[in-house]
Amino acid sequence: MNAESGVHTAAPASGEIRAFLDLLRCPATGEPLEFQGRTLVAADGVHQYPIDAAGIAQFAASPESSDAQTQQAHYDRVADTYITNLSYPHTREYTAYLDQALLGQLPADGLGDVAEICCGRGEAVELVAGRFKRAIGVDISLNMLRAARKDHHAANLAFVQGDATRLPLADCAFDSVFMLGGIHHVNDRAALFREVARILKPGGRFYFREPVSDFWPWLMLRKIIYRLSPALDHETERPLRYDETAPYLSAAQLRLTSWRTYGFFGFCLLMNSDVLVFNRLFRFVPGIRDITRAFARFDDWITSRRNWTRRGLQVVGVAEKPDHSLS
Ligand SMILES: C[S@@+](CC[C@H](N)C(=O)[O-])C[C@H]1O[C@@H](n2cnc3c(N)ncnc32)[C@H](O)[C@@H]1O
Repeated sequence: MNAESGVHTAAPASGEIRAFLDLLRCPATGEPLEFQGRTLVAADGVHQYPIDAAGIAQFAASPESSDAQTQQAHYDRVADTYITNLSYPHTREYTAYLDQALLGQLPADGLGDVAEICCGRGEAVELVAGRFKRAIGVDISLNMLRAARKDHHAANLAFVQGDATRLPLADCAFDSVFMLGGIHHVNDRAALFREVARILKPGGRFYFREPVSDFWPWLMLRKIIYRLSPALDHETERPLRYDETAPYLSAAQLRLTSWRTYGFFGFCLLMNSDVLVFNRLFRFVPGIRDITRAFARFDDWITSRRNWTRRGLQVVGVAEKPDHSLS
């Protein structure tokens, strides 16, 4: 969607990534990039990044870290199934509830220039369509990015392949950074949050929604599920813990301003169709959308109780990069 007109525009040709050049940089050297035909080239002339037929610039064709390599292979393999599993009526209905929790954290005015890290199919940029000036989605998996590109055609939206711990994005360039279900796939949280802080403008905000395991029954359950399920990889996927996340954010000079959890029994039952295979059959249950809404209301009631706001299964958080020029 076009942010101003609200109208779908044709997919930009690869050359149109030119409109995003000021937001990009060479992930290896940090230098600015320029075009040479269908390739982005760093000032040293050595580092070169091709742009594929879908207009996706490839900054991480062979990722350096083994975690990123594992995730790339995994999501390239499961992209179609992953997307199908999120398309069932109950999954969409419960996600809509979680979306409201995230939207409730956003400012009323625009989001400016946006980066979505680990964007997959472009979940955040779709949710906030019409609220940003330009947006770039970054993911390690080309198959996830190609699915995103197929669904999103706005000229103010670009997708690039990159590693979250070595972003091909410029310093102090973004007003808002989003991660929805991506942080827990990146083991090197210190490097990840350093990158988020680097690309944010002073005063910019980092919005995230992630699995969290601060309540011991969820911690135990996930320990078992992450080991047993072929859809998950316990080596490279680690749900957040408050006591671990807050210090890493703070070390990266990001000030945590909000941390509230959502999702309880309803989330367990109605989400996770990648893990709970029987859950896929819920789509045939009459009234499943109403049932899901009732579960979401119940979950919301539980996670709003005093002393229970950190016991949900998903955290919606906001961290800010302080603007020292204001102090
Ligand atoms: C659970 S999916 C969520 C994506 C998105 N919110 C969605 O629903 O489509 C996690 C995504 O993180 C990406 N990812 C994992 N490790 C990454 C890394 N080191 N750098 C960039 N992306 C990564 C995966 O390829 C995958 O698309």
